[in-house]
Amino acid sequence: MGILEKFSLKGKIAIVTGGAGLYGRCIVEGLAEAGAYVYIASRNVKSCNKLAEELKDKGYSVSGAELDQTDTESIIRLKDRVIAEQGKIDILVNNAVLRPMKGPDGPIEDFELSMKVNATGVVNITRIIAEEMKKKKSGVIINISSIYGVLGIDPYLYEGTDMGLWAPDYAFHRAGIINITRYYASLLGPYNIRVNCISPGGLFTNQHPKFVERYNRKTFLGRMANTEDIKGVVVFLASDASSYITGENIMMDGGLSAK
Ligand SMILES: NC(=O)c1ccc[n+]([C@@H]2O[C@H](COP(=O)([O-])OP(=O)(O)OC[C@H]3O[C@@H](n4cnc5c(N)ncnc54)[C@H](O)[C@@H]3O)[C@@H](O)[C@H]2O)c1
Repeated sequence: MGILEKFSLKGKIAIVTGGAGLYGRCIVEGLAEAGAYVYIASRNVKSCNKLAEELKDKGYSVSGAELDQTDTESIIRLKDRVIAEQGKIDILVNNAVLRPMKGPDGPIEDFELSMKVNATGVVNITRIIAEEMKKKKSGVIINISSIYGVLGIDPYLYEGTDMGLWAPDYAFHRAGIINITRYYASLLGPYNIRVNCISPGGLFTNQHPKFVERYNRKTFLGRMANTEDIKGVVVFLASDASSYITGENIMMDGGLSAK
């Protein structure tokens, strides 16, 4: 097999959680462009179906799917549906996130809700889907974290803007998802299941100009991430091109964390 063929995801079946969100949509498009059949899964099935229709019109193989990762039954329903329709699950991208906490002093109940989705939910879906992958002795799990799983926040970025400071739950679960990546890489390696993480930087979405200018200066490349940037790294990790990489966290941040 030639090297370019190794990047192909033809015949692969993928689930992207939070697939209709900001980064989710980019990840779905990347996997679908590389040839995978992608289930776009989230609580908001309407927006998943809408994106699925858009992408089907462009010729991609995708479906919208309902998933609430705080609900074990919902995860099992999604897993059963994909197995009934496709017979296997090759790729799981844990991209969904809930940001209920709005600042350092937000109600502690919001912290608990955050953990339900972003910690317990991630572990629950990972082990349920991994059981299916184990049966085939093959699979890839990709967790999406953030620069804020590795770094503290720089309050200067937000000064004089209407953007709130990140809340403590985000720092907690973004760091956790990086190390749970290593845990599952260790546990699932004997089943030929690779588990890796991508820690992206901020996606440009017309944020406050002061924030954007300061953020750009913090990176080597002088810009925020665009909607294309994550596609290559996610396809690489999902494909045989990365066959000997597991337990890794790839910083996709224009050099911000290396500066
Ligand atoms: N947006 C950024 O600039 C940025 C920067 C760095 C890292 N990230 C990371 O990218 C990933 C996606 O972030 P985003 O900004 O695209 O998020 P987003 O808010 O645009 O989308 C999140 C998605 O998760 C889904 N979701 C929330 N709770 C769920 C649940 N209980 N079950 C199933 N789905 C649920 C939502 O419906 C939504 O589709 C996260 O891991 C985040 O940490 C984002």
